Amino acid sequence: MSDKHAHRSGEDRPRHIPPTPPLGGKAGASEHPDVKSFQEPHTRESTLRPSRRDRVTLSTPVCALLGCDYPIILAGMGGVSRSELVTAVTRAGGFGFLGMVREPAALIRQEVEAVRRCTTRPFGVNLIPAATEPALLEQELAACIELGVSAVALFWDLSRETVARLRQAGILVVCQVGSADEASEAVSAGAQILIAQGVEAGGHVRGTTPLHELLQQIVPMSPVPVLAAGGLVDGQDLVDVLHAGAQAAVLGTAFLASPESFAHYYHKKRVVDGHASDTLITETFHINWPMGAPVRVLRNSVTRGERGTPSTAEPTIIGSEMGRPIYLFSTDSPLRSMTGDFEAMALYAGCGIDRIRTLTPAGTRLAAIMADAAHILFDERTEQIAQAGREKS
Ligand SMILES: Cc1cc2nc3c(=O)[nH]c(=O)nc-3n(C[C@H](O)[C@H](O)[C@H](O)COP(=O)(O)O)c2cc1C
Repeated sequence: MSDKHAHRSGEDRPRHIPPTPPLGGKAGASEHPDVKSFQEPHTRESTLRPSRRDRVTLSTPVCALLGCDYPIILAGMGGVSRSELVTAVTRAGGFGFLGMVREPAALIRQEVEAVRRCTTRPFGVNLIPAATEPALLEQELAACIELGVSAVALFWDLSRETVARLRQAGILVVCQVGSADEASEAVSAGAQILIAQGVEAGGHVRGTTPLHELLQQIVPMSPVPVLAAGGLVDGQDLVDVLHAGAQAAVLGTAFLASPESFAHYYHKKRVVDGHASDTLITETFHINWPMGAPVRVLRNSVTRGERGTPSTAEPTIIGSEMGRPIYLFSTDSPLRSMTGDFEAMALYAGCGIDRIRTLTPAGTRLAAIMADAAHILFDERTEQIAQAGREKS
């Protein structure tokens, strides 16, 4: 994915992608654009002339299943995808997952209620059974069921009991997978939607296969809708994965770089300043997760080995989140609620970061992706019709 898109840096993006506010800039009046019409918010009217191309609609069957307008999904990023970000994506017509891995039931309730105060649209919760103590997982599941969340996205080692329990409660079950074998297992366990996660993804990376290869393997064999994740940022990415048979694009890192995400500004700044070549996959950040769980992060003093060896090191506190210690080599990434040595924390980032050059309100980014994808599809269709005409004559 990164090679394929190498020419599309922030600087040479096509003219019709609207400008975004500078890093640290205020969200401003364009935070809740009228994405339905694909017209630019009034602040940017002069930069984009509406045309017939703006009328191309872009919805897939999974949009009806999830209850969203557009095939753009916010990944359930632990700590990062909190109510503010989920609300922004949901209100803009996408679908958002609250990242609630290892969070207490009280926080799940608080965040679900916070989104519901702002929108009546459906949204989901992300949980990771393999990285959660059984007693806590039980409380998380009970909270999701009691709150009647519409969808739960699960990741990592498949928990068949969890899938069955959620389905029994009428909750739509989404499983993120990294291989065709895992996709088969998830479907046989009852997953109703799959997310194919390519190796380009930021955060924990399940498989080793590039996204488009993985889609080629999973789409033809899947009886349920397949969504695509890993390094996706812009309208061309959305068009590419739709052409590959996916029904929506799942974005993590691109939405992390928004004023609404709960990531600490340090992490956001490292993402907008970073490049795909600055990322690597490592098992160094292991505390909180099962051993041998690789993550894609930005290189730092920890990945360079300057902070010691994870297996032999004494537990070292490098930060705090409201009294909770943050340990060196843990999977915690810098959040707004934390203080400490952010440079040494896990700075998750996907391979699409070359094309994430500004901190952009999530609704504005979503509207730009939709407008851009609509233009690209319109141009493709126009070219196909012209080609057919040329062949006839
Ligand atoms: C900061 C960050 C945190 C993440 N946390 C989770 C998580 O808690 N649960 C999960 O299922 N996936 C998590 N992921 C992975 C995403 O689900 C998704 O696969 C990934 O973001 C897609 O790649 P992209 O970041 O390049 O868009 C995380 C990703 C990032 C960047």
